[in-house]
Amino acid sequence: MNEAAGFIKGRARGESPARSVEPEVGLVLGSGLGPLAEEVENPLAIPYGEIPHFPVSTVAGHAGRLVLGRLEGRQVAVMQGRFHYYEGYSLAEVTFPVRVLKALGIKALILTNASGGVNPDFIPGDLMLIRDHINLIGDNPLRGPNDPDLGPRFPDLFEAWDPALRAVARRVAERLGIPVREGVYVALSGPTYETPAEVAFLRTAGGDAVGMSTVPEAIVARHAGLRVFGVSCVTNVHLPSGHPGRKEVSHQEVIDVANRAGSDLSRLLRGVLRSDWEGRA
Ligand code: HPA
Repeated sequence: MNEAAGFIKGRARGESPARSVEPEVGLVLGSGLGPLAEEVENPLAIPYGEIPHFPVSTVAGHAGRLVLGRLEGRQVAVMQGRFHYYEGYSLAEVTFPVRVLKALGIKALILTNASGGVNPDFIPGDLMLIRDHINLIGDNPLRGPNDPDLGPRFPDLFEAWDPALRAVARRVAERLGIPVREGVYVALSGPTYETPAEVAFLRTAGGDAVGMSTVPEAIVARHAGLRVFGVSCVTNVHLPSGHPGRKEVSHQEVIDVANRAGSDLSRLLRGVLRSDWEGRA
């Protein structure tokens, strides 16, 4: 962790000795939601493959990079692309970058993803503020020995998803005229999409959207004492059995819808970054 963080700081200094890397906020951009990284001012982009101890990417064309710079007046560290459990990484590997961002000094983590709606009121393209999560990956990134310097053995996840940041986002969305939903994100391991029986189960269990990421990162961020905020782009909706509009999910559709919703998401996140976060709503 410290070697990775030290490398990133050294890279910044090498570029300009006066440059200090002190990101206040980390952002993780999910499938199809990467363009916000291109808007970072005075960017320093480091491919994941160059950072010591970062997992080695397996997916061609999904290499990913860390972009440091400024957005709406805040120092940010943006992860353009993430690691997923279904790729074969352990959850410790999936969440290692969150530890590195914490070591760089972030105080808050903003997570984004693409998901499938299990709430039948949702429509493709909806943005959902994450109120809570259900971890059904069947694993936990904190399994194993705990380093008390990083966080507690048994972290509390009550209000894991920062209510004040969510309130800020609701106000920003209203001001910008961006409709937003709010709900519970369920994480499964993937890579299969859900069966109709699983969708019915997830809905009964209290889920609104389902995906294959985000929850491990949120768990590690809370363990580290970071404030956590998240937005899920609902790219497809799993309609109930017998519904005439029901159809298969395709990865291409997920990417296309996320790309279309991406500009609203970017505007929303920029508005959140611009806002005052201290008023704990
Ligand atoms: N299920 C799981 N993950 C997803 C989906 C889905 O329907 N859509 C986008 N990511």
